[in-house]
Amino acid sequence: MATTDNQSESVVHILTETRRYPPPQGFAEQANLRDPGVYERAREDPETFWASVAEELHWDQPWDRVMNWTPPTVEWFTGGKLNASYNCVDRHLDGAQRTKPAIVWEGEPPGEERTLTYEDLYREVNRAALMLRSLGVEKGDRVSIYLPMVPELPIAMLACARIGATHSVVFGGFSPDSLADRINDGEAKVLITADGGYRRGKVVPLKENADKALEKTPSVRKVVTVERLGRDKYPVNMLENRDIWWHEAMASVTESECPPEPLDAEHPLYTLYTSGTTGKPKGLLHTTGGYLVGTYLTTKWVFDLKEDDIYWCTADIGWVTGHSYVVYGPLANGATTVMYEGTPDYPDKDRFWDIVERRKVSVLYTAPTAIRGFMGWGAEYADKHDLSSLRLLGSVGEPINPEAWVWYHEHIGRERCPIVDTWWQTETGMILISPLPGLTTTKPGSATIPLPGIEPDIVDDHGNSVGVGQDGYLVLKRPWPSIARSIWGDPERYVAQYFSKYGPEVYVTGDGARRDEEGYYWLMGRVDDVLNVAGHRLGTMELESALVSHEAVAEAAVIGIPHSVKGQGIAAFCRLRSGIEPRDDLRQQLREHVAKKVGSIARPDNVYLVAELPKTRSAKIMRRLLRDIAEGKVVGDTTTLTDPAVLEDIKRNYGGAEATE
Ligand code: WT7
Repeated sequence: MATTDNQSESVVHILTETRRYPPPQGFAEQANLRDPGVYERAREDPETFWASVAEELHWDQPWDRVMNWTPPTVEWFTGGKLNASYNCVDRHLDGAQRTKPAIVWEGEPPGEERTLTYEDLYREVNRAALMLRSLGVEKGDRVSIYLPMVPELPIAMLACARIGATHSVVFGGFSPDSLADRINDGEAKVLITADGGYRRGKVVPLKENADKALEKTPSVRKVVTVERLGRDKYPVNMLENRDIWWHEAMASVTESECPPEPLDAEHPLYTLYTSGTTGKPKGLLHTTGGYLVGTYLTTKWVFDLKEDDIYWCTADIGWVTGHSYVVYGPLANGATTVMYEGTPDYPDKDRFWDIVERRKVSVLYTAPTAIRGFMGWGAEYADKHDLSSLRLLGSVGEPINPEAWVWYHEHIGRERCPIVDTWWQTETGMILISPLPGLTTTKPGSATIPLPGIEPDIVDDHGNSVGVGQDGYLVLKRPWPSIARSIWGDPERYVAQYFSKYGPEVYVTGDGARRDEEGYYWLMGRVDDVLNVAGHRLGTMELESALVSHEAVAEAAVIGIPHSVKGQGIAAFCRLRSGIEPRDDLRQQLREHVAKKVGSIARPDNVYLVAELPKTRSAKIMRRLLRDIAEGKVVGDTTTLTDPAVLEDIKRNYGGAEATE
């Protein structure tokens, strides 16, 4: 099978890892889930299992059928009606939860903070929903949201959910072009943005970016701008009849209650764009009932949330982790969810630990790339702080190397806190493979075992299960409630992408994996042309099209290279148009060009300017060779290469190409 850049290292630790971490004393006794029998019950009768979870939410109308599976399509809770905003907000207004903090927000500039209780959140979401209605947004319409990590972001999402509009959040780090593509794909009627946000002490000019995008988004009628930075310091352009300030629009709402719309369980809740193997990002569609059931349950069990927990998922809401585990999952549980606007190193490298200490964070969910960053900075930044409030740690986004896992366990968890390494995807909506902290013995580097009701397998090219310790493709053999239902506007691509390789019943994840003798899963990274850079998914095709859109580039090939902090870095090989000389400043220009076209997360680490790309006789680019060159390894078998001289040329040009940062 195809291998990825992550695999060689992972293979070593699956074979050598012997460390075991059982649930700590006292933890198992108090965990939300203590009964291991649930795995078996869910396996025997998954529908009864999921129905019992769904009953914990509020339904305006009960469902007729738990699951309606006509492969590859599935419906969950058919006939049922509910509202996600009701379940995340109104449901918690009785009793003590009413005045409990729902969202605790910290801006990047130290000292900026806001806390919204469930009552406050109720007031804001109702108003925002009425505001959207007053702007002409109706049930079924799409609303694009391009905001920094500020409370208005979850408020806007919940307001959409309240009236049955489908939100499409676009990460604030994306470029005007990327924003325009996403708005146009969904034909959004309204865009919600901000004057800007803060990131590592600098201003991110969101409205300015949005203005550029809006030059080519005919569907957008109104633009609502949150005043985050301040009009005096950072003036923005406001177009008459199109642009309004969030606070003014909110103030002009005269009523205070917007009754939640009872929506079909399968009503589209949101779309979220992620990279695939082709150039065009795809808008995964999540629907209301199943998504909420899945995120509700996994937040409750995997993070073991209790009434007085202070829960902090550090992801940006612009990614699925933020949707499921900053917003919907925790709020559906009536939890306190912490939101932080900025980077971990601002104003200093102890910012996370400062927040944990001051806010008494008890459950922390972050990414391996961040953990490796902390490791590199040294434990002294964490050591300065009282982290005794922490009781559980989580990891997500990419395989966590055992060294980072153990460092996290020792220096952040102070050897007291279980670690849940959670495997899932934008498409899965919820965590599927993860320890349950009261039940599962963990092994550093393994996401352990599937959650109750989830049925993965690891198969070969023909769909046969592979043996213990063998490489294979990770697939899922039965649907779960929060699986993405489609790709927006392109249902054929959905089927082709996920359900064609092994037939309509088998969901193909795109990840490689192995299972050990205890049935633990060891994720090996992507097996397709998708990179995972600092936990963010980027398609190589997408990056290659950005490169060839530069006037100097005739052809480009992008590969992932090992990177000590980001997991994977990006190496780009470009053949220049004839007559254009390879110069060092052109390398830099091309890096910036990709950052501008796609977003700064996509900026290549290395750019190689070459006279030819190495190709096979059938004209396929030999990525394996490029990888070997980028890693400085001995170059492998080149017998199928059309012109071996190409390789010499690439090797000659290899020197001096590395980025300085
Ligand atoms: C891809 C999904 C899930 C939310 C964040 C990323 C990789 C994710 C793990 C993990 C090994 C992981 C996979 C997956 N991945 N979590 N715990 N161990 N790999 O969502 O952008 O949709 O990316 O991230 O390769 O396919 P995404």
